[in-house]
Amino acid sequence: MKTKTDVDYLFEPRAVAVIGASQNTAKIGYRVVENIVRRGYKGQIYPINPKGGEVLGLKIYPDLSAVEGDVDIAVITIPARFVFDAVKECAAKHVKHLVIISSGFSEVGNAEEEREIAAYAREHGMRVLGPNIFGIYSSAVSLDATFGPGGILPGRVAIITQSGALGIAMIGKTAAESLGLSVLVSVGNKSDIDESDLLEYLANDEATKVIFLYIEGVKDGDRLVEILKRVTRNKHVIVVKAGRSKRGAMAAASHTGSLAGADEIFDSIMRQCGVLRAENVQEAFDWARFLADVPFPKGKEAVIITNGGGIGVMTTDACEKYGVDLYDDQAVLKETFAPVMPSFGSSKNPVDLTGQATAEDYERAMEAALANDDMHAVLSLYCETALFDAGELVPVLRNEYQRYKGKKPIVFSLFGGEKVEIITSKLRKEGIPVFADVYDAVSCLGALYRSWHNSNTPADEPEEIQIDVLAVEAILDRAREDKRGFLLAGEAQQMAKVLGLSMPRSILARNLDEAVHAAEKIGYPVVMKVVSKDIIHKSDAGGVALDLVNQNEVIDAYQAIMRSCREYKADALIQGVEVVEMVKPGVETIIGARQDASFGPIVMFGLGGIYVEVMKDVAFRAAPISRREAHAMVSDIRSYPLLLGVRGEKRKEIDGIVDVAMKLGALIDRCRDITDIEINPLVVYEHGQGVKAVDVRILFQTTREVR
Ligand code: COA
Repeated sequence: MKTKTDVDYLFEPRAVAVIGASQNTAKIGYRVVENIVRRGYKGQIYPINPKGGEVLGLKIYPDLSAVEGDVDIAVITIPARFVFDAVKECAAKHVKHLVIISSGFSEVGNAEEEREIAAYAREHGMRVLGPNIFGIYSSAVSLDATFGPGGILPGRVAIITQSGALGIAMIGKTAAESLGLSVLVSVGNKSDIDESDLLEYLANDEATKVIFLYIEGVKDGDRLVEILKRVTRNKHVIVVKAGRSKRGAMAAASHTGSLAGADEIFDSIMRQCGVLRAENVQEAFDWARFLADVPFPKGKEAVIITNGGGIGVMTTDACEKYGVDLYDDQAVLKETFAPVMPSFGSSKNPVDLTGQATAEDYERAMEAALANDDMHAVLSLYCETALFDAGELVPVLRNEYQRYKGKKPIVFSLFGGEKVEIITSKLRKEGIPVFADVYDAVSCLGALYRSWHNSNTPADEPEEIQIDVLAVEAILDRAREDKRGFLLAGEAQQMAKVLGLSMPRSILARNLDEAVHAAEKIGYPVVMKVVSKDIIHKSDAGGVALDLVNQNEVIDAYQAIMRSCREYKADALIQGVEVVEMVKPGVETIIGARQDASFGPIVMFGLGGIYVEVMKDVAFRAAPISRREAHAMVSDIRSYPLLLGVRGEKRKEIDGIVDVAMKLGALIDRCRDITDIEINPLVVYEHGQGVKAVDVRILFQTTREVR
């Protein structure tokens, strides 16, 4: 028997009290009791109200102390100003969980009391869900302790929502869409229990096969990432994140008080965790319902069966978009389908039964595809025609679906007029994955394939990256003594050495003679840069000279730099110049790491110049990252083919980028006082020839924080 964890009793309570239970049918305190009773909750129900009496045949207790048995959950439906006192009563009664529906806390600026309640509850061994939530539904004990419209269907999909109102609306919507739920819970202000706590429970909940998260902002993202990576190994996890746009993010910030963060970061990190990101709630529902019943495919190759060439072509496009491969063995296709279709049809994939197809043709073609072990998924499409009434197709689809649903993924798309729409909606209510638009059908299959791919990917092998934290901190401390939160060029060189990054050779020269010697020592061509604490923007001051190919050019450049820097800032203290090896051209990339407000330490990668600035072609990962994740981050960018080598060019040093990404990930994770690292550019050469960190910029706090 499994041992119950902290959060288990929230979903499997043996007794529930409703504080604020009312006889007034218009009140939330009545609706919650009504839903609990109607749903047929299996445990004890204790309505609490000082007025006493009865509600829905249940005795109302004047207060919790009058209840004899133990109480696992207290659902609180009284005005905010009375909540803390009620929480104290709950502590005296040794209640395990508080489900605080009441609004009037941090969402309206009353954060202090919310914090005090959560802290008091924790001190007294209670966990808090809410406040500002619609309640909780759990199919494990048939508990609907919400003030929703009722009628939730039990099933295999768990919904965790940050928005209460949307959550309530989802109750009706899930019922209308025949989406069965294992759990429905809103986290509201997350004063204590958050998504991560709930995911811990759901990870081991056998009833739950799919988890749908509606998120507006992420707090404590490190923990969420860790849990999501684990949960997605054996459950499908779908997320919808509101606040993608700038204005949306602002609206989300004022709605739940949490930072939406950059959408690209969220997107990348969800992919890293194996989470399926849906565009909107409807898409999430479609995926959830499909994934709840479907087995994983045995392979990647799908077959399209259609009576219309056009929708066949569109479906082929959709398959490419959603990463669904099509079965392509022409000989087998011909052998399989030619005997079961009209002679003028096409047995190529899409298998076109033509506009003259009959229900029998569909049946035979689907049967042939479903019975073939090498055809791993079936997409069956129908376009309404005058010759073939969609009604005749219904028993065929129903029958084939029922026979094969446990063995193979099958999706349908029916396109046509009112009759087709009625049929579609009827079959959907039966839980059969039928869609009007082929893209919606293929998008479900694509979600399944991504989830399947994720669960097939071996778990990450942790790889310890050695970082000499003491040496790193010693460099930062020296800058701190100077009251600086950034490194100067020489210090960045030292840092690169500690990290084992290859930088261009560089020598500090205090006068012209030394500059000439330095250039000779490094070898031409060289770059020369002024060194002065008083000149931050060196190029603006005329303090940089590139591509110096001989001694004369070094002398001229030195003199020109001194002259223009004096003109730029007459009193600047100039220590000399830095003479730097001029690096060979290669692919310029940017690699960085920083402390993100939502996810904590993260790493980013992109190609330099317009790729980052105009095309925003960057990928992110939560740090620290494994070698596999670092590779996935590099290959995530759209311009990745440039690194693989295009138009006869050779493959670039991708492993070198991966090494740098892992080092930066380990550094930003271990040294939390470093806020920002950017290597721009990291020049990447052909495979075997390494990478070079041309400029390393590091920003840090002026106080230490090491893990
Ligand atoms: N213990 C038990 N019962 C108590 C009590 C206590 N300490 N204090 C008050 N009550 C009773 C009241 O007497 C009343 O019972 P009655 O109907 O028999 O008179 C009942 O609890 C409710 O109190 P009332 O003052 O009538 O409040 P209300 O029902 O109008 O509103 C809330 C209470 C919680 C619903 C309201 O304050 C609220 O927060 N609403 C928003 C909820 C919300 O939207 N949540 C987020 C959803 S996403």
